[in-house]
Amino acid sequence: MTMSIRYATGSRILHWLVAALVFVLVPVGIWMAGRAEMDIFDDLTNTLYAWHKAIGATVLVLMVIRIIVKQRYGSPPYSATLSRRQTVAATSLHHLLYLLLVLTPLLGWAGVTAFPALITLGGYNLPAMPLVPEDQALATRLFEIHGAFALLLATLIIGHIGAALIHLVIRKDGVFQRMWFGRE
Ligand code: HEM
Repeated sequence: MTMSIRYATGSRILHWLVAALVFVLVPVGIWMAGRAEMDIFDDLTNTLYAWHKAIGATVLVLMVIRIIVKQRYGSPPYSATLSRRQTVAATSLHHLLYLLLVLTPLLGWAGVTAFPALITLGGYNLPAMPLVPEDQALATRLFEIHGAFALLLATLIIGHIGAALIHLVIRKDGVFQRMWFGRE
């Protein structure tokens, strides 16, 4: 059987979709949390929260699908030009990114369940997370951890983008193309 050098089409689409959503989520999260800190609870703040919750919940759903697709189709083998140390470093960073991309939205969802502040776009409510009690102190703690995880995630993503760009621009070794589109 010939192994594709690319990730499965579904994995590639989900990768760029999640990347775009997280790219929006982090600045919107920092912006709205900053406004809440300054006690500005106007229409703009509410809109930012509503979008953040809706997009964050979408990321969680997409990550579940992404993990299923990855389990089903796996990853293409790395080229022999990469050292064992490089492939172990890449795989470890990818696993950490997956973990944070699941835990961060879960913590946000748990926080809005505990607060409770489940209202999102169009006045619809997100479902409450099972087993999470209404408890404001717990919500505050969950939001703190949510924010810390999100910032760690953003930092790791910068490293991830840096590594991808080194492969694309400097090493030109086809690693970037594994996650890209067009002709093989
Ligand atoms: C990958 C997904 C997510 C990322 C990357 C993310 C990122 C962030 C960031 C960067 C902040 C600002 C933290 C700070 O400056 O203190 C934040 C705050 C917040 N997020 Fe998320 N978020 C995600 C998913 C979610 C989800 C699914 C929900 C709820 C359904 C949610 C609800 C909130 C809330 C309510 C706050 C404000 C907390 C506060 O006011 O202290 N987030 N998020």
